Amino acid sequence: MSAVPWTEKYAPRRVSEIVRNTEAAMKLLKLVKEWKPGSKGILLYGPPGTGKTVSVYAVANELNYEVIEMNASDTRNVQNVMRVAGSAAMQAPLFAKRGRIVLIDEIDGLSGREDRGGLGAIIKVIKSARVPVVLTANDPWDPRFTSLRQYCELIEYKRLTMWDVVKVLRSICQKEGIIADNEVLKEIAKNAEGDLRSAINDLQALAEGRKRLTKEMLSILARRDREKNIFEVLRMLFSAKTARMATFALSTADVDYEMLMRWISENIPYHMDDVEELAKAYDALSRADVFLGRIKREQNWKLLPYAFELMSAGVALARSKSKFKFVKYSFPSLLKELKSSKEQRDLQKKIGEKIKKRCHTSVTRAINDFLPFIRVILRNNPEVGAKMAKWFRFNEEEIAFITGDSRSSKEIIKLLK
Ligand SMILES: Nc1ncnc2c1ncn2[C@@H]1O[C@H](COP(=O)(O)OP(=O)(O)OP(=O)(O)O)[C@@H](O)[C@H]1O
Ligand SMILES: [Mg+2]
Repeated sequence: MSAVPWTEKYAPRRVSEIVRNTEAAMKLLKLVKEWKPGSKGILLYGPPGTGKTVSVYAVANELNYEVIEMNASDTRNVQNVMRVAGSAAMQAPLFAKRGRIVLIDEIDGLSGREDRGGLGAIIKVIKSARVPVVLTANDPWDPRFTSLRQYCELIEYKRLTMWDVVKVLRSICQKEGIIADNEVLKEIAKNAEGDLRSAINDLQALAEGRKRLTKEMLSILARRDREKNIFEVLRMLFSAKTARMATFALSTADVDYEMLMRWISENIPYHMDDVEELAKAYDALSRADVFLGRIKREQNWKLLPYAFELMSAGVALARSKSKFKFVKYSFPSLLKELKSSKEQRDLQKKIGEKIKKRCHTSVTRAINDFLPFIRVILRNNPEVGAKMAKWFRFNEEEIAFITGDSRSSKEIIKLLK
């Protein structure tokens, strides 16, 4: 396992190594070099991961300057800004280094009440500085920066193209002794949307413990992307207050219906804690499932809107009492299964087989669609839970696994005895 992030290991040390934004970095070098008291501050702006921060260090490195960095989000108040940047900015450097740059990074991070005082202080620092003050921002056109802009030279950093990113990724692979399919690098680059930092991080994550990146790995990337999308869909769906909102939420999903069912099924209990709501939601979902089954068997696509409505509005509107909660979504059991230990997997399968016997379904469906429902009942209603456990013939270990909490499983086991 490599501890050093590749974004640092392969960060450009010289201005000429800055990809795509070389000219911007050269302009920065020139301004820093020619800076004298009374000159303006320098504001680097552009999308994330395009080389703003790293340019400042490359410039300092070439000029043998020292960088005094301040994170704008740390600037709680005027005094802080003055103490940290002001003092450093007003003193000429003493030893070794030939100059100093004060870097106030990510001024977009200044927020709320702090920004007025903070920005005012930054302007004061710029006006009275004895060394160049460099600022970075993603969006310099934010109205609160209007007056600050007048005290700065602006330098734009552009989003990198996909080919820029691929080139950098390939050269990193070479240095790391990794053989990578072009397709994989292209896919990473495409996902990064011009953000080289995120592309390099993705590459490092994907290459962890591997020396070959093959096309087969594209599915890992694609799956992760879909998961990102599905989280948003779920959030929208479970917070929907109207049927229209709910159906709209589902329409933005880019996974197939069966997958969507699993995600919804797995996450219903996190949004509803009322037994009645839960029953309604799972009822809607199971009816949607019946429709989907028919659609598949009979290729009767006219039924799709019904299934769709049940899955979306049927589920979302079941929540009437529970407040909408911000939930960290969990993966459907099938995916989670891949991650959990073999023991757990075996146990879950045994449970699935018991459900299968009683419900005449497949083990996979039993685990994905029935088990979450059973789990909710066992957790919330020990009396009914005990009856169910008896009917399914779950043993104590299985009951504990299903409930996942010792209190309710103990209660059920007591009732069974
Ligand atoms: N133009 C570039 N040329 C070479 N490497 C780059 C470039 N842009 C980004 N990188 C790589 O990505 C990392 C992050 O870049 P950097 O911190 O400069 O981004 P930034 O523009 O300051 O982003 P943010 O707006 O999020 O602060 C760098 O350490 C470097 O490895
Ligand atoms: Mg930065």
